[in-house]
Amino acid sequence: MLYDLLRPFLFTLPAETAHHVGSGLLDLSLAPPPLRALVRSAVAIDDPALAIERFGIRFPNPVGLAAGFDKTGEMFNALGALGFGFVEIGTVTAHAQPGNPRPRLFRLPADRALLNRMGFNNPGADAVAARLGRTRIEPVLGINLGKSKVTPLEDAAGDYLRSLELLEPFARYLVVNVSSPNTPGLRQLQDAAPLRDLLRALRRRAGELASARAGEARPVLLKIAPDLTDPQIEEAVGIAREEGMAGIIATNTTVSRDGLRTAPARVEALGAGGVSGAPLRTRAREVVSLIRRTAGGAMPIVGVGGIFTADDAWEMVRAGAALVQLYTGFIYRGPLVAREICIGLRERLRREGMRTLEEAIGSAHR
Ligand code: FNR
Repeated sequence: MLYDLLRPFLFTLPAETAHHVGSGLLDLSLAPPPLRALVRSAVAIDDPALAIERFGIRFPNPVGLAAGFDKTGEMFNALGALGFGFVEIGTVTAHAQPGNPRPRLFRLPADRALLNRMGFNNPGADAVAARLGRTRIEPVLGINLGKSKVTPLEDAAGDYLRSLELLEPFARYLVVNVSSPNTPGLRQLQDAAPLRDLLRALRRRAGELASARAGEARPVLLKIAPDLTDPQIEEAVGIAREEGMAGIIATNTTVSRDGLRTAPARVEALGAGGVSGAPLRTRAREVVSLIRRTAGGAMPIVGVGGIFTADDAWEMVRAGAALVQLYTGFIYRGPLVAREICIGLRERLRREGMRTLEEAIGSAHR
């Protein structure tokens, strides 16, 4: 298919340049709304057997695009047209920031992985809100919030709250990202005391914003790192439940370099950053499993990390994920990956004699 021809060309370019070329092509080709609608109707697998309802949102299918691909909220309609059941934009921070110096995104093809230290490059919550205010939002849209680099850790809550206030009107759900390895100190917000304070403040404000417009509060989800220890994960899940989080997104990229096939000297030379893709698969699934065991079915889980195929997605669902997301699989497998995964999931349901994907969620634990 077309991407088999395009990918070798894109992979000759520096990774971040390829991202801009690829997403530019996508955006351009799917700019006219009627064409987008046509493409979505041809590509998306919105089968009732795959539809999932969680935290008050009906997802037409369970395969979402993970945060970080559309950091600025410019492409989500085109991405939705490729058949993703939902698209998460961001991470957005209160202040505009350039992110880390380039190069900051690398491919590890031998590992089917990426390494990035983008550092939340984004135009700031004001600018993203202004853009969203001018756009008709087509897919189920999640907005992922992070802390601005200039804001000291002690003032993190105020920084997240500012983004929440500006962006909440446009989001179907919001994500508190405390798990990126590329903002100094950010992951300390996963420690019990600051995590509780942050989640409480955000939840309270989401409630106030909802009352002000006499509507329902937007669901807020917590996104965690795979590098937490199991006891830390159990603790974070407990806090998320107590503070009324709607769900947990597991996981972000890993700082671990264990088990990579790429030569250690080459990996070392690339420097700091988070690894995504195939090397993350086992740990991400383990984390999802642990959350499921800790919270039972009470806490919806979005499973993300190393999903390339329907089998990967299926195992994530069996581990306990109600929804899945991917980023690296999209780069390696191309624009039809959501469709291919949905078709494979449907086939899997048929083979297992299940009527809906709902029946498969957490089935590894039964
Ligand atoms: C990411 N990811 C990410 N996550 C997040 O919460 N905020 C962000 O801004 C970003 N940015 C980002 C940039 C790049 C280049 C990559 C590869 C990843 C993490 C992403 O959403 C996901 O959690 C991980 O990549 C694991 O999923 P995959 O890539 O293995 O499917």
